[in-house]
Amino acid sequence: MVYLDNAATTWPKPYAVCDEMLKCMKNYCANPGRSGHRMALRASEKIYECRENIAKLFVIPDPLCVSFTSNTTEALNKGIKGLVKPGDHVITTSMEHNSVLRPLKKLEQLGVELTIVKADAYGRVSAEMVENSINNNTKLIVAIHASNVYGTVNPVKEIGRIAREKKIVFMVDAAQTAGVYPIDVEDMNVDILAFPGHKGLMGPQGTGGLYVREDLVLDTLTEGGTGSMSESPYQPDFVPDRYESGTQNTPGIAALNEGVKFILANGMDSIMQHEKELTRRLLDGLRSIPRVRIYGDTTLKENVGVVSINIEGKDCVDVSSELDSTYEIATRGGLHCAYIAHETLGTLECGTVRLSIGWFNTKKDIDWALYAISRIAKN
Ligand code: ALA
Repeated sequence: MVYLDNAATTWPKPYAVCDEMLKCMKNYCANPGRSGHRMALRASEKIYECRENIAKLFVIPDPLCVSFTSNTTEALNKGIKGLVKPGDHVITTSMEHNSVLRPLKKLEQLGVELTIVKADAYGRVSAEMVENSINNNTKLIVAIHASNVYGTVNPVKEIGRIAREKKIVFMVDAAQTAGVYPIDVEDMNVDILAFPGHKGLMGPQGTGGLYVREDLVLDTLTEGGTGSMSESPYQPDFVPDRYESGTQNTPGIAALNEGVKFILANGMDSIMQHEKELTRRLLDGLRSIPRVRIYGDTTLKENVGVVSINIEGKDCVDVSSELDSTYEIATRGGLHCAYIAHETLGTLECGTVRLSIGWFNTKKDIDWALYAISRIAKN
């Protein structure tokens, strides 16, 4: 299988990720932060180690500001709904995934004011347009870091600077950038960061996380057992317990820790360079195939390895399906849970075939995909 669906979930995983998951299940999968026995302490230590490594990767000053979630969607919901109340104004972009759009649309029905800033023809949002949308009651700006459909990276540092100046909370959806594109929450003025564990961080599905700036307190969406302050009927107000109720996904987080260590050991630059090189090879090859249309910014100045195409006269889901069944190439066809991004770039009616590159892809994978696409385009 040539796996080009890394924007959905990366695969394969580093050996250490799979190995640690099994090791945890076999040797130390007790309940972290609850009982005081050695096995439970080992589970807690592993989870803390993962917090520390994530903090290192995103330049988060205090690892306790990282709480674990089961995916990015949960983190986004916690961030958005924990902050915004009826009467508040929220600014977002027309490149968002449904995981941002749907919570915001739900809040809009409850009396939250919403402005959606339209991206340009490449899928990039202008920081100036975001600034021009700010009102007296703007509470939150939430933006996707890189589009999951076209790979276009948004100017989050600039938006973060504006948000900080105006004292507005800035939240970033790093679903496509965590682990493959530099993120420095301090330098980018990011107050809340939502990220997946199973994509660029190379961990298993069922893992994700939320960073909340130290002096920002969100309302909680879930209350329950935290292993701390059991004598109190109220949710603890300290982090990470405030945002983490119920038993943690210890095997998943232990495995995720290995994914993050893998990235720290290989270096973000080499990961980025590798993915960029393969994306360039893919784009160069696609340009020379008749009847193929490529969407988004193909200059690769500010992009992650996500490429969306169509073949004239062919349905995107059929193409994706043929790539799988005839050529053993995994891609994703359709609307990628991001109808508003497709609407912005004019692909809502047809959808696209998305090819997304990961660390384990090779030049050979790209050449095979190009060959397959040229065959399909010919028939
Ligand atoms: N959000 C993931 C994607 O874009 C699942 O495919």
